Amino acid sequence: MASEQEKTADFGFRTVAKDEKEVMVAEVFHSVAAKYDLMNDLMSFGIHRIWKRFTIECSGIRRNQCVLDLAGGTGDLTARFSRMVGEGGEVILADINASMLKVGREKLRNKGIIDNINYVQANAEALPFPDNTFDCITISFGLRNVTDKNKALRSMYRVLKPGGRLLVLEFSKPVVKPLSKVYDAYSFHILPKIGEVVASDAGSYRYLAESIRMHPDQETLKGMMSDAGFDSVNYFNLTGGIVALHRGFKF
Ligand SMILES: C[S@@+](CC[C@H](N)C(=O)[O-])C[C@H]1O[C@@H](n2cnc3c(N)ncnc32)[C@H](O)[C@@H]1O
Repeated sequence: MASEQEKTADFGFRTVAKDEKEVMVAEVFHSVAAKYDLMNDLMSFGIHRIWKRFTIECSGIRRNQCVLDLAGGTGDLTARFSRMVGEGGEVILADINASMLKVGREKLRNKGIIDNINYVQANAEALPFPDNTFDCITISFGLRNVTDKNKALRSMYRVLKPGGRLLVLEFSKPVVKPLSKVYDAYSFHILPKIGEVVASDAGSYRYLAESIRMHPDQETLKGMMSDAGFDSVNYFNLTGGIVALHRGFKF
């Protein structure tokens, strides 16, 4: 029989039933989808673009390769990968949330991106792809929202080709003490206010701040990736560890 801990998950600072978390996360992203890109720029002062650029640089992606942008949302990484792999390659933008996928698809079509992108509604915990499919998988600001992160990491390992790499871009634990205090004040007091004014939704941005605090720190995530089977796992702290990029390989 499953223990209490196995049946529950964190939703921000609250402990909820696992099934309930998936529904609550879905509500957050249905609610923020239309304003997601604007809020990203406002909340991070545009710095998320630099974090994402660094992720692309670490991807090692070449023409004609196959990439999975998991929890890809509005497709910032997908757009860049699409150009890099070219017409002979393929990018799959996968996300569990239909509203985020819809915004992503419309945005990429309006940008006139070449026709090498497929859109798939999928849960990271049970990826609907054959073993050994992708040269590279990215999950950017997505893993934090997944109910069973270990299961999702194992699923990513399964669909990655031998020689392929996983890149996890996610909020992490600031490594500079004074930065940590300012960051806490900003995320718990200012973020929900910006959310209220711009997206009429303070609650979703309160969840954002809380979920960041509950997410595994750099070393813990590194251990989780190794446990899921990834080799040579390492990470780069970005902006003083506010964000970290973890990278692991399947050999
Ligand atoms: C903060 S957004 C990140 C979007 C995009 N990757 C970016 O960096 O801008 C998080 C995304 O994770 C998706 N997500 C949450 N849980 C998921 C799951 N279990 N499987 C796949 N996607 C999930 C959400 O629907 C949402 O689009």
